Amino acid sequence: MDKKAVIFFAVLISLALALIVLFKVQTDPLENFVSSESAGFQHYPELEKAIILYQKNCNTCHGSFGEGMSGNPRLREIKLTVDQIKTIIRNGQDEMPAFPDIQEPELSRLAELIKYF
Ligand code: HEC
Repeated sequence: MDKKAVIFFAVLISLALALIVLFKVQTDPLENFVSSESAGFQHYPELEKAIILYQKNCNTCHGSFGEGMSGNPRLREIKLTVDQIKTIIRNGQDEMPAFPDIQEPELSRLAELIKYF
């Protein structure tokens, strides 16, 4: 292989790695969302409150990005509606505690956030 071909493949592989890293970053919705602050996230203070509520109350069981942990369910790809999620947050369900202190409008934003995961 001549030198030019080696350089060509080295550049190609670096580009592919860069793309993989970029894709990985972009597939983490909440992280992406939080880091999009400069892109207008500050215009959604209620959503910001919902993220803080999630981090405070939910991520110990469901993981930072709804990936689920220690046998608790994943919140990604759930088929529930926003209203059904709100009911579960308000009343709890089986092992999951109720969160009667989470009030509107944050309750709705929290349920929407989970749909977004
Ligand atoms: C103590 C651990 C724990 C905490 C804290 C917790 N959950 Fe859960 N959650 C569970 C468990 C366990 C289930 C499954 C309940 C069942 O068996 O029906 C569940 C179920 C759910 C479901 C339904 C999932 C499905 O697939 O049907 C939603 C939505 C949910 N939780 C949201 C939340 C939100 C939002 C919070 C924070 C306000 C939260 N959870 C806090 C343990 C927890």
